[in-house]
This record gives sequence, C-alpha cells and structure tokens, in this order.
Amino acid sequence: MRSPALTSTASFKALESHAAEARDWQLRSLFAHDAQRFPKLTVDAAGLFLDYSKNRLNTATIGLLLDLARERGVERQRDAMLNGEKINLTEQRAVLHTALRMPRGKQLVVDGQDINADVHAVLDHVKEFTDRVRGGQWLGYSGKQITDIINIGIGGSDLGPKMAVLALRSYSHPRLKMHFVSNVDGHDMDAALAQVNPETTLFIVASKTFTTAETMLNAGTARNWFLQSGGKQEDLAKHFVAVSTNTKAVAEFGIDTANMFPFWDWVGGRYSVWSAIGLSVALAVGFGYFADFLAGAHAMDEHFREAPLEQNMPVLLAMVGFWNRQFLNAGSLSIAPYHQDLNRFPAYLQQLDMESNGKRVTRNGDAVDTVTCPVVWGECGTNAQHAYFQLLHQGTDVTPIDFIAALRATHDLAGHHDALLANCFAQSEAFMTGKTADEVRADLAGQNLTPEQIEALVPHKTFPGNRPSNTILMDQLTPGALGALIALYEHKTFVQGVLWDVNSFDQWGVELGKVLARNIQSELSGEAQPDRHDSSTNGLIGMAKAAQHI
Ligand code: F6P
Repeated sequence: MRSPALTSTASFKALESHAAEARDWQLRSLFAHDAQRFPKLTVDAAGLFLDYSKNRLNTATIGLLLDLARERGVERQRDAMLNGEKINLTEQRAVLHTALRMPRGKQLVVDGQDINADVHAVLDHVKEFTDRVRGGQWLGYSGKQITDIINIGIGGSDLGPKMAVLALRSYSHPRLKMHFVSNVDGHDMDAALAQVNPETTLFIVASKTFTTAETMLNAGTARNWFLQSGGKQEDLAKHFVAVSTNTKAVAEFGIDTANMFPFWDWVGGRYSVWSAIGLSVALAVGFGYFADFLAGAHAMDEHFREAPLEQNMPVLLAMVGFWNRQFLNAGSLSIAPYHQDLNRFPAYLQQLDMESNGKRVTRNGDAVDTVTCPVVWGECGTNAQHAYFQLLHQGTDVTPIDFIAALRATHDLAGHHDALLANCFAQSEAFMTGKTADEVRADLAGQNLTPEQIEALVPHKTFPGNRPSNTILMDQLTPGALGALIALYEHKTFVQGVLWDVNSFDQWGVELGKVLARNIQSELSGEAQPDRHDSSTNGLIGMAKAAQHI
C-alpha cells in the first residue's frame, strides 16, 4: 500500500504548527521553568541511558512526534522487519540482522527454513575455529601459532569489525594482532604486509558477495604475497578463510569451503557485524565476549520490540533526530564519543545511517517531499574540541551532537576519566547555555580593559548557545554495552527510514561509480588516448597514463 506523502499527514502538519513556536524556544529557559525536565526527557534501556533533554523540544513535542511515528506505521513496520517479511522491496529480501543475535532455540522460520538453527550452526563453527586459533592449536604451515590476522573487506565487511575490535581492545587476546585492509589503494595492503610474517598470518577474506572489486584485488594480492614469501599452494587452507554468502566464488578463489563461514542474503552489509563477518571480533575477544556482544544487541532488540513508544530509546532517538533535521533545518549530525576506543564509531555510523537513509525516493519510487538523512560525521572528544568544536559553538549552522561516554573506564590510569567526563558534560552544557553578551561583559570587567576594548571583544566572546545535543551513557564499554549501542543506532536508522518512507536496506547509489571505474581502469591500462568522456575526465585519465611512463 502506498504511504501518503509525509507532508500531507495530519501529524506532520500538527508538528509544523508546533515547530513555528518551538523554533524560538531557548533551552536555558526550558530548563529554568521545569525542574523535572531531566527525569522527563531521559530513558534507560539495555544498559544504556539516553538524555535527550538538551534539545529544543518539550513533552508536547514528543507527543506530536510519536503521533507521527504511529501514523507512519513505525510499530507495524518494526514487527514486519522482526518477523522476517520482505521489507527490502527493491531486492525482495527480508531484513533479519536481529535474528543473528537471537538466543539459541528461539524459532524463526523464513521461507520454510528455521534460521535460528542455521545462525547457531555458524556460531558453533565460529566458536570452534576461534578457540583453536586463540588456544594456539591452529598452526601455520611451518608449525607456528598465528600471531597476526588480516581482515580483507570493505564497507560493512570492514567498518563494523574494525570498529568493534578497536572498541573492545581491552578484552583482546595478547598474542593476536588484528589488521584491517579495505582500500583498493595498494598502500593499505602494503602497510599491513610490511608488519607480518607469512608463517604466522591468517587472512580473512570477508565479502558478502565475494565479487567486490576492492576486496577481490586485495585478496588476490595477499594470496600472491603468501605464495611468493614461502607459502605453498597446499598451505593456503591454513592461512586463508572466507566469510561470504557466495560459496561458489569462495571455492573458485581457492579457499577450502570447510574454512568458509556463511551468512545469508537477509543480512545487509552494514548490518553484518553480528554474522560471521564479525569473525575478526570473535578472534580478538574470544567467543564468550562475542556472545556477550550479541546478547547486548538482543537486549536492545527486545526493548525496541516491547517498550511503548514513549519509553522506546531507539524510537525517541530517531524522533529527536527527525525533529532537528526536519524542523530545525540541521543538515548534519555530529557524533562525539568521549571514549578513545570508540574512535571508529563515527565512521561506522556514517555507513549505517547514510547508506541506509541517504535516499531521495520513497519505497514506491515517488520523490520524497522533504529532506532526508543528515550528513553524519565526528571524532572522539576531547580531540574534536581542539579541532572543529569552534564551528559548532559559534559557526552559522546549528549542528546537533550525540555525546557518548562510559561512566567507568576500562583502564586504571589515575585522573584521566574524571577529566574526560568533565569535558563531555561541560561541552553539552556550553552548547546548551552559551554565553550572553552581558555575561561576557561581566567576565571582562575585572581585567583592566577600557570600555571600548570590552565592547570590541564582546561579539567575539559571545556564544549563542541553544544548540541541541543528546548524551548516551553506559557504565563501561563492555562487549554487551557495545552491542546495545550499535543496535540502538540500527533501530534509530530504521525508524527514520519509516518516517521518510525510504527503503533503508538497499544502496543503488553506489553502483554508478563502480561501473564507470571499471571502464576507466581498462582505459588506464590500454594504449588509446582517452576521448570518450568530458574534457575534465579525459584530461585526468591522460595525466595518469602519462605518469605511468615516467
Ligand atoms: O558498495 C557498497 C557495498 O555494497 C556495501 O553495502 C557493502 O557493505 C560493501 O559494498 C561490501 O560488500 P561485500 O561485503 O559484498 O564485499
């Protein structure tokens, strides 16, 4: 059934009228007039705490936003996704990353197949394999234990595992050094190979399709390097394993399919860290912690499925983001993890959010009648404070920020964690309160300046404030908390996709560049001078060809 255009719905219209007033609201006075604002606009779920009180909204706004969520069918579509309906319409696929973290025995039948049994059979294989590598029983061709693991993959076959391995650094095996090679740029592979010994290195070729150009080129290069550095053809099985849905291509590449970890077309690439694509995570932290990671995500899934919308953390995070994007015109969302181990989390969220909802047509192919996904970007605090926070505080655009922090550190270095949390909380306070001209004047009063000097400085030192942010807290960055955090953002992305009525599970926008790159690659290696493109593209190709002859 065709959904009505977003702007024509009664609840969107109600929000528009409400927004006309709310645009002028000042966060300072919202807090000053409601002592209960913090308890009213915070929520707990699956070991996470979300404070969304520092946004320009009130409980009436939330009520109207939830009316919209209901009118757009968020609950119905959530259930359709969780029950395995084929909601990815352009690819006719179910969307079941949530099934990857269901406990054993929770039956879920899709197309006549009990997928819970399939999922746990692969997890059993992951456990058996990771126990052997970590325990030192899996040996390289010269009888030595594995010391280095290189995951070769790109997009969802790289970003999730790499982010999670870094995030769970404190839980990692001391002997195993993890490397991630994703870029077709040979400098990436070159840098990794320079650090490892073929006798003790295990390569994971991770690709859902096993056709992705970058990954296939990198995997071929790794195999050649291995064969040229002492390994023999018959040793490949000890050093190369694959994670894929494409058994035939894995066998053709020369990987023993006994060492292949399958997954399924109902797992989207950017939602695949829970599948065998997470093999590098399980190798780094061990199967027990990997299971905790899955359990943390499952707890968030259960919350998403069961909690009323008023207390549903992913729904609230989505609705607040929608409000900022749609009615406060926020074109980007900055992610600020105050946790160095979440260094790659903003990059991970970029793919999750922007590849999912960076769309301009509805599921039926009509033009979307509003803006959709904001640009997602970010960097760890406190580093970000000393780089681009200037613009966030005093620039002309208003950029909402998600602050993410753990209340307790996973290290025991004295003094650092209080300093970190102090900065995190100070920043969200500063974005909210700003600093008025009178406050600046009062500050400058005791500093031996003339009235003219003070007035000249006032505009520069004034902060507009009233800038929205969320704060997400966890106790510690454990495997379970990380699982819940990722699942929170996955479901947030899903809910926003439902509001905009886009298909959050395809990614046709990445195809055109792939096709053009194949054509240009053959022109770069051919004899003929390029003449099939515009003058810019022809000129650039010509320069690269000329450089090859130097
Ligand atoms: O080109 C985009 C994309 O399809 C992503 O969606 C995906 O995560 C990535 O490429 C890698 O795909 P694969 O796992 O099939 O190599």
